Amino acid sequence: MNPPSSLPFWCVVPAAGVGSRMRADRPKQYLTLSGRTILEHTLARLLAQPGLQRVVVSLSSDDPYWPHVAQAADERVWTAPGGKERADSVLSALDRLVAAGVNEHAWVLVHDAARPNLAPEDLARLLATLADDPVGGLLAGPSRDTLKLIGPDGRVVQTLDRAAIWQAYTPQMFRLGLLRAALSDALAACTQVTDEASAMERLGYSPRLVEGRTDNIKVTRPEDLEWLQRAWGDPL
Ligand code: CTP
Ligand code: MG
Repeated sequence: MNPPSSLPFWCVVPAAGVGSRMRADRPKQYLTLSGRTILEHTLARLLAQPGLQRVVVSLSSDDPYWPHVAQAADERVWTAPGGKERADSVLSALDRLVAAGVNEHAWVLVHDAARPNLAPEDLARLLATLADDPVGGLLAGPSRDTLKLIGPDGRVVQTLDRAAIWQAYTPQMFRLGLLRAALSDALAACTQVTDEASAMERLGYSPRLVEGRTDNIKVTRPEDLEWLQRAWGDPL
């Protein structure tokens, strides 16, 4: 067996979203952080991890920014057409891996293009923890805030047990064949799947949570990018 630090793995980076909540002049993955695009930071973190075989980036068909991405020229980086929803974009990238002859038991890590602050130690720990896991799993973190269940009138119905509720991050790590089957099945049933784990859960699997840093944020709203720029010491 390979030592965990060089466990072979493939990556899928869905980057075909428009970033509507960001309200910027371009998709958020192409906004700048410390002089490089968010997508470039994200890809650099994945490509730096020993064991990485190939990264498939799902892109929108009318994406004019990709050719300018530094890693577009890296032979370990492939592209696939993005789809309507995130799950469609992920499935398209998985199809690319299958078409390339990647083994169905291969580990695939799906990581949002919009999460540039993935800590190398978290990535390494995810791989090491799940190397021999029968299902796979994901990085996740305990909720900082007290959580409320609300009713249709916007008023609190109940306070939830915070200890039992975690936030799901990416990367999410599953076997190529099973993940592809789970996502295809969910999409065919028109079920909303906002992450890979939920597609696996639908089929009765129980993904393992691996605690990661809570600053592995998904840039979603303008204040998220401002927060990262401050954290990284960018002039605002
Ligand atoms: N994504 C994708 N294909 C889609 C939708 C989303 O590849 N059809 C990607 C995004 O580019 C992002 C990740 O999935 O890297 C997480 O999605 P999200 O944060 O929702 O990004 P957007 O859909 O771009 O943003 P918004 O929902 O605000 O429009
Ligand atoms: Mg979205």
